[in-house]
Amino acid sequence: MSFGKIIGDYELIGKINKGGIAEIHKARHRGNGALYALRIMLPQIPKTARNVRLFVGGAEIVKSLDHPNLVKVLDVVLSKEMPYVVMEYVEGNNLKHCLIHHDSRVQEGAVDILMRIAQGLHFLHTCHILHRDIKPENILISDRTDVKIADFSLAVRKGKDQVSSRSISGSRSYIAPERILLKRYDERSDIYSFGITAYELLTGRVPYAGTTDQEVLSKHVSRWVRPQSVRRWNPSVPRQLEEIVMGCMRKDPAERYPHVGLVIRDLEQVPRDARRSSEQEGGDKRQAGNLRYNPVDEEVAEE
Ligand SMILES: Nc1ncnc2c1ncn2[C@@H]1O[C@H](COP(=O)(O)OP(=O)(O)OP(=O)(O)O)[C@@H](O)[C@H]1O
Ligand SMILES: [Mg+2]
Repeated sequence: MSFGKIIGDYELIGKINKGGIAEIHKARHRGNGALYALRIMLPQIPKTARNVRLFVGGAEIVKSLDHPNLVKVLDVVLSKEMPYVVMEYVEGNNLKHCLIHHDSRVQEGAVDILMRIAQGLHFLHTCHILHRDIKPENILISDRTDVKIADFSLAVRKGKDQVSSRSISGSRSYIAPERILLKRYDERSDIYSFGITAYELLTGRVPYAGTTDQEVLSKHVSRWVRPQSVRRWNPSVPRQLEEIVMGCMRKDPAERYPHVGLVIRDLEQVPRDARRSSEQEGGDKRQAGNLRYNPVDEEVAEE
């Protein structure tokens, strides 16, 4: 899809991203000139009811939601030839990109970023919606340092005794064990993925890596594979913060934080300047400031 193309009331002015089923474009409203992000179903994908349902995902569910830490979905247009979703445009980058490029705002503002992700997630859960794909690529950090949860492709309304029906969907490095095992899941599965995201933010690596889906997924579920501590990789992280992250990442959902409100409560107690606080604690400073990002090959298992 090219620059200058007109879609409904919008003119495309630059491609942001291409996924398996959709492209995201920066677009300008032809009436008021305001900028938006358009998620457009790829022209070559057959517009079968199933594909369109996959494309829309949870966009309809989150459409009316308004929270500073969620990307606002403004409209879902189901035109026969080219379905698209209109979102607020966030000028900036996703958290994964910031980590790979050692964006200093991310290291310095880690607690604040985690707090704001947690607040967006808490709001979503209060609206009885599960995100099901919390990970750094789906967190947008704006140039004005807003933090917003994006990508509601897998979002669903919370059901009673919710079970993944046929196969797992999610991202292998972040998905909760109970979802891998196709067991009952609830908001605690999002808390697990939030925990892995927090671990990656603080250490520059995911706790369970591997070369195949099978290898990574089995590490999530195995009782015998324990994650290395956060401070093993980044001693400047206060113990208090490490405990919160580990509390989110417990393999058994019953041992995890039961809801995000409690994660927020505990994050509020963590000193915002993690580095300074660990120095006050007399923490090990060997690696402080030397954090390197360890890229992992991330794949999405489709439902
Ligand atoms: N509203 C937005 N404003 C600016 N950039 C965005 C916006 N939404 C998404 N992006 C950028 O596009 C990237 C991909 O977006 P998103 O995660 O929604 O799609 P995807 O993962 O490719 O799609 P899907 O999960 O549906 O296959 C994000 O990581 C972000 O960099
Ligand atoms: Mg995504």
